Amino acid sequence: MDISAVNDLSYEEFVNIFGNVVEKCPVVAAAVWSARPFLSFTALEAEIHKFIDVLPQSGKEGILRCHPDLAGRDLQRGTLTQESRAEQAAAGLDALGPAEASLLARLNREYKQRFGFPFVVCVRAADQRAILRQLAERCGNEPALESVRGIEEVKKICRLRLRDIV
Ligand code: GUN
Repeated sequence: MDISAVNDLSYEEFVNIFGNVVEKCPVVAAAVWSARPFLSFTALEAEIHKFIDVLPQSGKEGILRCHPDLAGRDLQRGTLTQESRAEQAAAGLDALGPAEASLLARLNREYKQRFGFPFVVCVRAADQRAILRQLAERCGNEPALESVRGIEEVKKICRLRLRDIV
């Protein structure tokens, strides 16, 4: 859809269509709808960034906590959102060998224990090895830096999800 069609959407339609551009955070779409009309894709994206950037630290961490673990329980149970399922499948996370699966599960656990939120990375452009390497590296980051890194990844995921729509 083009940007003028986006601007014509009611808030119900807008939240239905854009409600998961930030994983399980439809409040983001519900909030930015008020900033219509958007002049461009970039303007829509900038409003989303503005909403996220002014959140207190607890809100930013809350956004990170809405993300499921990569190759975690939701993937096994088939309860991922459609977007997350497609992204994790594209990165081969639904077809890990037993060694990679247990390494990923262990690192995901360590990461969550250290930071208090799950490891979030834009997996669409990555493969299993790159994801595991990043996870191992980011486990060593300082907590203040790591929440900033996580939010950067949320924005990358958001851009690709927006691009699928607009
Ligand atoms: N990267 C892209 N989608 C997801 C997701 O659903 N969860 C996590 N942790 N990272 C992601």
